[in-house]
Amino acid sequence: MTSAHNRVAVLHGVNFDVLERRDQATYGGLSLYELEAKIERWARELGLETIFFQTNSEGEFVEYLHRAPDLADAALINAGAWTHYSRAIADALDATGLPAVEVHLSDVESREEWRRLSVFDGLVLGKVSGKGPDGYRDALEALARELGVSGG
Ligand code: DQA
Repeated sequence: MTSAHNRVAVLHGVNFDVLERRDQATYGGLSLYELEAKIERWARELGLETIFFQTNSEGEFVEYLHRAPDLADAALINAGAWTHYSRAIADALDATGLPAVEVHLSDVESREEWRRLSVFDGLVLGKVSGKGPDGYRDALEALARELGVSGG
């Protein structure tokens, strides 16, 4: 049994499997694989371990969240469009009891009105949006602080 308390589940939702095909001006043109490689490197520098998950199925996302407390000590979540309407995912995140940070590559506040609403409001430690991949580093730093993990 590990007692490091440094494991972060990095969860991507719907349409992130085709990230490299989505609007480049908005999402930067990286593939999910490339994004996850950056996240893993930043996490390692901070003394965190990562475990990655992506699905286009809302039910699978919920089921993964049900297992998350056994797999991780914290969650970093970019649920894509589900962010704006899936109360089921918000309830499942709440049930994990894990500290979580919400990330968006794009600036959801300055896009369409409907993207301003997040079902995770009040459930997450913080929300980082509009900073591209670098936002994930900010989120990892916040989680490292929360977990009391201090860099490698
Ligand atoms: C996103 C923003 C969402 O509004 C959108 O539906 C996405 C990606 C982002 O990372 O900027 O799929 O979560």
